[in-house]
Amino acid sequence: MKMRSMDHKFRFQLLTKWLTDHYQPQLAADVGGSKGLLAYLLNSQGWKCTVIDPFVPQPFSKYKNIETGKRVLVSKKEAMSIPRRVRHFEPEMAKDYDLLIGLHAHGVNMKIIDACKKYGKKFVLLPCCVVDEPIEIKPNIDWFESLVDYGRKLGLDIKTDKINFKGQNKILYVYEKKNVKTVQVRQ
Ligand SMILES: C[S@@+](CC[C@H](N)C(=O)[O-])C[C@H]1O[C@@H](n2cnc3c(N)ncnc32)[C@H](O)[C@@H]1O
Repeated sequence: MKMRSMDHKFRFQLLTKWLTDHYQPQLAADVGGSKGLLAYLLNSQGWKCTVIDPFVPQPFSKYKNIETGKRVLVSKKEAMSIPRRVRHFEPEMAKDYDLLIGLHAHGVNMKIIDACKKYGKKFVLLPCCVVDEPIEIKPNIDWFESLVDYGRKLGLDIKTDKINFKGQNKILYVYEKKNVKTVQVRQ
């Protein structure tokens, strides 16, 4: 039986679950992480995730725990204390992390793939559109598939998956099988 897709607004909770199912706690960056809910949820599970985004939006004040169905309130102080670099993503930043995440991040997907190739880092991308990417837009080209091809041509072992929310829910990533090795998060 096909499971009903969840609302797009639950993408942070669903991606957190996917990430924690696939990776040990990581030193990570959420590129284009906006309000930082993904980083907040990951950090509450032992990750060290920093938002990299040139814009600082209003902080969030609540989210729904999709396992309990309960609303969770978050103080302004807590939301404001999510680690953040108020900068455009630059490839050299990849050196500071083990995993780069891009959830509907704008104009940085190819840059993230290039940076991860150059510095030997992992990535998890859910690309939404080609806006600001250094790619020639042609008819009938599937942006997601072209990114997968792009990474594979660089020699990266790219896998794909899907998360159960409405909208652009496809993931391309460099896999790390959980429990194969323990990755220590640097303090
Ligand atoms: C569509 S929003 C997605 C935000 C969030 N990840 C989400 O799923 O709601 C795209 C985000 O990319 C950020 N962004 C745009 N250019 C960027 C860049 N060069 N480096 C990092 N973030 C960027 C924007 O500020 C914005 O927060």
